[in-house]
Amino acid sequence: MPSLNVLLTEDQIQSRIRELGIQVTADYAGERPVFLGVLKGCIPFIADLARAVNLDLEVDYVQIASYHGQQSTGVVRFRKDHDIDIQGRHVILVEDIIDTGLTLQYLRDLLAMRNPASLKVVALLSKPEARRHNVPAEYVGFEIENEFVVGYGLDDSERYRNLPYIAVVRDDTPAG
Ligand code: IMP
Repeated sequence: MPSLNVLLTEDQIQSRIRELGIQVTADYAGERPVFLGVLKGCIPFIADLARAVNLDLEVDYVQIASYHGQQSTGVVRFRKDHDIDIQGRHVILVEDIIDTGLTLQYLRDLLAMRNPASLKVVALLSKPEARRHNVPAEYVGFEIENEFVVGYGLDDSERYRNLPYIAVVRDDTPAG
C-alpha cells in the first residue's frame, strides 16, 4: 500500500498563494489579465490564486496531455484550446507543477505565436533538478526535490487531487 508523507501543509500553500496574489496584483495594476489554467492539475490553485488577486481578470483553460501515471511520455498533445482571444492581452499561464519543462515550453511557444501583449507563468511547484527544457517561470510558489508529489490538484492516475495538502507518495510494499 502506498503511504502519503506531507510535504507542504494546507497553511503553507494558502499563505504562499496570498503572497503570490499580492505580487501579481501589484505587477498587473490597472490591467485586465487573462489567467489561462492548464487542466486538470491547476484547478484548486487557479481557484485560490484568482481569489487572492485583486484585479478585474478573466479565466480560461487549456489542456495538454503528456503524462501517463508517473512517467513522462515526452510527447505533448493539445487536448483543449482556450476560448478567449488572447491577441493583445496580458496572459498569465497558471500551472500546477513544472517538471521537465516540456509542457510549459510547448505552451509558451504556442501561445507566443498568438501575439499576446505579454506572457508570464505562475507555477505552484517547480522541480529544478528534473528540468530538461530551459523555460522561464516568472512566479513559482515552491521549489521542491525531484520526487513525485500528489494532492492539491496533482494526481497519481487521477487519485489524490482532492487533498488540501501536497504529499510524496511512497510505495511501502516490501521488496520481493
Ligand atoms: P513537464 O512537462 O514534465 O514539466 O510536466 C508537467 C506536468 O506533468 C504537470 O502539469 C503535471 O500534470 C505532471 N507532473 C509532473 N510532475 C508531477 C508530480 O510530481 N506529480 C503529479 N503530476 C506531475
